[in-house]
Amino acid sequence: MVFLNARRLRDKIWPEPLPPPASFDGQTVLVTGATAGLGLAAAVHFATLGARVIMTTRSFSRGVSAKDHVEQRAGIIGKGRTHLMELDMNRYSSCMSFVNELKQTEVCQNGLDVAVLNAGVINVNFMQSPEGWEQTIQVNTLSTTLLGLLLLQWMKQPGRDTKPHLVFVTSRDHLDPDITTWADWSNQDGILRHFSDEKRWPVGQLDPNYANSKLLLTYAVEEICKRAAGPNGSVDVIVNTVCPGLVSTDLAREVAKTSTLMQLLVSVYQGVLGKSADYGARFYVTAARTSEDEHGKYIQSMFTDDEYRRYAIILPTPHTQD
Ligand SMILES: NC(=O)c1ccc[n+]([C@@H]2O[C@H](COP(=O)([O-])OP(=O)(O)OC[C@H]3O[C@@H](n4cnc5c(N)ncnc54)[C@H](OP(=O)(O)O)[C@@H]3O)[C@@H](O)[C@H]2O)c1
Repeated sequence: MVFLNARRLRDKIWPEPLPPPASFDGQTVLVTGATAGLGLAAAVHFATLGARVIMTTRSFSRGVSAKDHVEQRAGIIGKGRTHLMELDMNRYSSCMSFVNELKQTEVCQNGLDVAVLNAGVINVNFMQSPEGWEQTIQVNTLSTTLLGLLLLQWMKQPGRDTKPHLVFVTSRDHLDPDITTWADWSNQDGILRHFSDEKRWPVGQLDPNYANSKLLLTYAVEEICKRAAGPNGSVDVIVNTVCPGLVSTDLAREVAKTSTLMQLLVSVYQGVLGKSADYGARFYVTAARTSEDEHGKYIQSMFTDDEYRRYAIILPTPHTQD
């Protein structure tokens, strides 16, 4: 814990550098969950660096003020270059119609250069999605994976000048779950059903499924990485996972609401160790510029590659991120 917090402080003091201006000139970038926090800050970075940015929202009024914010922050470069689209990741139908609409939009007439799948939630209380899964698992794992698969198929278009990037926002917390019983659960109801069973919801735990949802997403991305290869084994779409580090956003709002003490703890913890959304979102920009030989890498600052390998070794499947 001391080690992790020391690294968090270091990240706060030495921010990830941004690439030169105009690095994304002529590119079209999608950011999901762009109304707040890291998604909003990432939209500002990409617009400032010259991209046309597609921002997703669940509520158009919230989306319009986010879009205005991005255009204002990006100044003259961002004017008229941001686009709003509706996406609710509680429902598969919304994910599918979103991708269908995206393919038809004028801004995507030359395809999509970068997709950053950022939207995510933390739930303290059990909530079920209309699809029947626990909502953290629905949004962070299942709908993110579905979007990733649908986008990958489309982004694999032959004859492009540059390799497109598909970026999945995970979290360092994917290293936390104790997976020793996962094989047993898999043989019983299945792991997803286990985590979506209200009777098994651990009351009193702050964010029961968050780390599980991010580890499950990490496993799904391993499969997506394999599918990103073309017939001759070349990488058609560069796929990465990214962790922005600890960032002061509203993500932990449900945790803060559990008591006045927790509200205080969350704000002190984020205040002392949390980076700004601007700093955290710089890792998304880094992940959107990786080279082909970094395909599959976990982009983050907390660990060196060797340290991550040592932590990740406890995971059951081989990791391509290293
Ligand atoms: N903050 C951190 O310290 C931290 C650390 C590691 C990883 N992350 C990851 O970073 C990502 C962004 O988190 P954040 O800290 O910026 O949180 P945030 O401020 O709460 O923003 C979350 C975004 O996701 C959207 N979203 C939530 N549920 C959605 C749904 N069902 N369908 C579509 N969009 C939905 C929200 O849109 P609405 O406005 O519609 O709610 C919002 O734009 C998450 O994946 C999180 O796990 C964050």
